[in-house]
Amino acid sequence: MWLAAAAPSLARRLLFLGPPPPPLLLLLLSRSSRCRRRLHSLGLAAMPEKRPFERLPADVCPINYSLCLKPDLLDFTFEGKLEASAQVRQATNQIVMNCADIDIITASYVPEGDEVPRPGIEPRLLSVKARSPNHWTARESPTDCVFRCFDNRKQFSDNFEIHATGFNYQNEDEKVTLSFPSTLQPGTGTLKIDFVGELNDKMKGFYRSKYTTPSGEVRYAAVTQFEATDARRAFPCWDEPAIKATFDISLVVPKDRVALSNMNVIDRKPYPDDENVVEVKFARTPVMSTYLVAFVVGEYDFVETRSKDGVCVRVYTPVGKAEQGKFALEVAAKTLPFYKDYFNVPYPLPKIDLIAIADFAAGAMENWGLVTYRETALLIDPKNSCSSSRQWVALVVGHELAHQWFGNLVTMEWWTHLWLNEGFASWIEYLCVDHCFPEYDIWTQFVSADYTRAQELDALDNSHPIEVSVGHPSEVDEIFDAISYSKGASVIRMLHDYIGDKDFKKGMNMYLTKFQQKNAATEDLWESLENASGKPIAAVMNTWTKQMGFPLIYVEAEQIEDDRLLSLSQRKFCASGPYVGEDCPQWMVPITISTSEDSSHAKMKILMDKPEMNIVLKDVKPDQWVKLNLGTVGFYRTQYSSAMLESLLPGIRDLSLPPVDRLGLQNDLFSLARAGIISTVEVLKVMEAFVNEPNYTVWSDLSCNLGILSTLLSHTDFYEEIQEFVKDVFSPIGERLGWDPKPGEGHLDALLRGLVLGKLGKAGHKATLEEARRRFKDHVEGKQILSADLRSPVYLTVLKHGDGTTLDIMLKLHKQADMQEEKNRIERVLGATLSPELIQKVLTFALSEEVRPQDTVSVIGGVAGGSKHGRKAAWKFIKDNWEELYNRYQGGFLISRLIKLSVEGFAVDKMAGEVKAFFESHPAPSAERTIQQCCENILLNAAWLKRDAESIHQYLLQRKASPPTA
Ligand code: BES
Ligand code: ZN
Repeated sequence: MWLAAAAPSLARRLLFLGPPPPPLLLLLLSRSSRCRRRLHSLGLAAMPEKRPFERLPADVCPINYSLCLKPDLLDFTFEGKLEASAQVRQATNQIVMNCADIDIITASYVPEGDEVPRPGIEPRLLSVKARSPNHWTARESPTDCVFRCFDNRKQFSDNFEIHATGFNYQNEDEKVTLSFPSTLQPGTGTLKIDFVGELNDKMKGFYRSKYTTPSGEVRYAAVTQFEATDARRAFPCWDEPAIKATFDISLVVPKDRVALSNMNVIDRKPYPDDENVVEVKFARTPVMSTYLVAFVVGEYDFVETRSKDGVCVRVYTPVGKAEQGKFALEVAAKTLPFYKDYFNVPYPLPKIDLIAIADFAAGAMENWGLVTYRETALLIDPKNSCSSSRQWVALVVGHELAHQWFGNLVTMEWWTHLWLNEGFASWIEYLCVDHCFPEYDIWTQFVSADYTRAQELDALDNSHPIEVSVGHPSEVDEIFDAISYSKGASVIRMLHDYIGDKDFKKGMNMYLTKFQQKNAATEDLWESLENASGKPIAAVMNTWTKQMGFPLIYVEAEQIEDDRLLSLSQRKFCASGPYVGEDCPQWMVPITISTSEDSSHAKMKILMDKPEMNIVLKDVKPDQWVKLNLGTVGFYRTQYSSAMLESLLPGIRDLSLPPVDRLGLQNDLFSLARAGIISTVEVLKVMEAFVNEPNYTVWSDLSCNLGILSTLLSHTDFYEEIQEFVKDVFSPIGERLGWDPKPGEGHLDALLRGLVLGKLGKAGHKATLEEARRRFKDHVEGKQILSADLRSPVYLTVLKHGDGTTLDIMLKLHKQADMQEEKNRIERVLGATLSPELIQKVLTFALSEEVRPQDTVSVIGGVAGGSKHGRKAAWKFIKDNWEELYNRYQGGFLISRLIKLSVEGFAVDKMAGEVKAFFESHPAPSAERTIQQCCENILLNAAWLKRDAESIHQYLLQRKASPPTA
């Protein structure tokens, strides 16, 4: 998701179908090998060299951190005092810790029980300025920095204290080595460090987040975002997920501010010498990883409840907006007992806070007991929030609360296993939302949001295995991608289906119980699930997590009397066509087969554990269809023989195929077409068979694919013709739905209406455009406020077909909007504007103070995706403003998103070279793989266009001449 945070399903895929050549895959040989050669000649296939990296030495490790921080919300600095009880396992005179952008003032070590002063060591206070950071003003003398904290801490005599004589910062490695004048002997002791840092504006570490008070005053909160490797920017620490310890946190803050951390408050007392300041102490945490520590200091209101299992739940909102926390509060209060039952393990902390943070890079972060969210992922206003926001909030809450067990209680041993955290949470969030909101039909939406997104990415030569060895922080940032999240979730869904819910739950409980408070690796989960189910889980799953990609299953059928004989073969699916070459990877594929006799149950389930297999289906009459992959659960694509496909298509028209199977079939065909295995015209014909389609998710997937095709054809001179096609496909459902909700309609109808009207309006459907303009006018004039669900499609339509005045009105609405959801809604459609001057205006706006730093990405991305000119303008804008953009996100994962959204739509070979060359001279380490993927996609688009543009054009012309009868 992830990242879906910016726009729940921006990225989309390829496609489709064709005459199935018997030894099928070979046909593509020439085309795909050509394409792959090109990638090599561009140097795209080889991943960059790994940066040298070493984990922290294990000779000294923390037991408990006593950490006191005093942020200055006006100067944007903070002072910190750390007293870490630590264990020296091996005699040493150095301690190596993580530390970045922090200045250590003093450091010392006091061995426990060391009562005799050591001869030869003079007690003295050393101040070593090893580095002068350019981003904050270092205090002149160390004593300036010593603020009062730990009043009741153990008093150590200077005599016993071994003062560090050197702090050697290894900036590249984000480490510091503290050198001591004598050997620290094995045993326990206390490491004391005083330090100062900056409350930065990069949305990582301990940072400042800007907000406006109800009276319009600009202020700042101090908040944290530590995952993956940024706790080290707030305090020196052993910042690796397997180095767990307990934390006693206290915050020294202005007394009128809310101060929160992972645990409940145990003490709050006036701070000596300053009556406006208080010291807030929090209870000791369980043992936990540093990336889950959090604190927030700011102004907030909250709503509160107690969940059925006795946990105090609060949702913190901006001041005056407590009402907007109620929806998330309800979801959280239902979700905690749901997970408690599912895992059969209680939530271990006394409280959980969910808080909306104004400036926030990710969508949300699962800090133990203090989960942070973007405002748009937590706040719901009954009148002004749309249905998709509600659904998004429910999914994000479900996701982050799942991490409280899966991730926080049991943590991955190293970032290589990040997918365990994110893949699992991205799967179970759907289980949770299905429990809370069965009317959302959320599992069907999983297929179009996660499963197809993962397959799209994983078909690239520049994909990566789910389990990927990572070291340097920039490599860690890089794997928060659709492989870890969406492919991870998809293979867990397949596994859950293969094992069955009962044994899966049993295995989960075994795993969480065995590893609680500890760390685990992928194999550990397989072992628990294997024990619970008696099935060969590790053998099956290793084929999915240790090698990249997934199979294309080719299937042919033969009728032999009353039986159907199927022959199946698997080969790796590549976006440029089936894998060619000798050592084709193989998967152990759980396969299900259904027939028209009972389209919603599997007639047969098998584990395909070889390259080819023959199967006999008993009692299948010649007129019955046979389909693979019931429910689109198996992580593979299917290519049917012409005859089999022919027999399935009526099931789309008459809806006898289940919705998720219709969706999967269409999506497979689309990606086969993009890969050149079938012709795109075949897919257009299949799309026309969806005339009677009632299902929102099926439409949303189809709409996405048509969007990809439109973007591709925007490189041709028959773009208008594909818009005609879009209008034809969407008009019947548009007419059935109308503009206003009918009695008895629900969540999915609201989503569908927004989707269809947006699609028709964008394509320039006359009646839709007129009605959108009329309603927009009434809205702006305050005569009739648009319902939240209609705003995006109306805004999009009027902007796309509007002028400078429309854009100005939209910018005014943006300024007036009180809710971040509304601001984002507007920001995302601004790129639809068509004239070059207006596009430039939108791009300038993207970097203005009006747009929150994390949202710039979706404005620029919207421009790139909005039109042909927008695509070029956005790319130029990124190049021209690279320094500012890179600096804004300091590398980070938002830069990858920005690049992806902005360059993926190109379809001219030379652009791949241009993009590559630009990033060679403007490196973005955490986006390296994304850049390679983008270049690969550009070449694939170009090949697709060359291959199919002409036949698509002919088809569209011929269709216009003699329109198909309904
Ligand atoms: N652990 C992540 C947050 C995160 C993301 C930290 C990237 C560091 C880098 C969190 O659990 C998460 O996955 N958030 C998602 C939302 C979720 C519903 C998919 C996100 O931020 O997009
Ligand atoms: Zn997550």
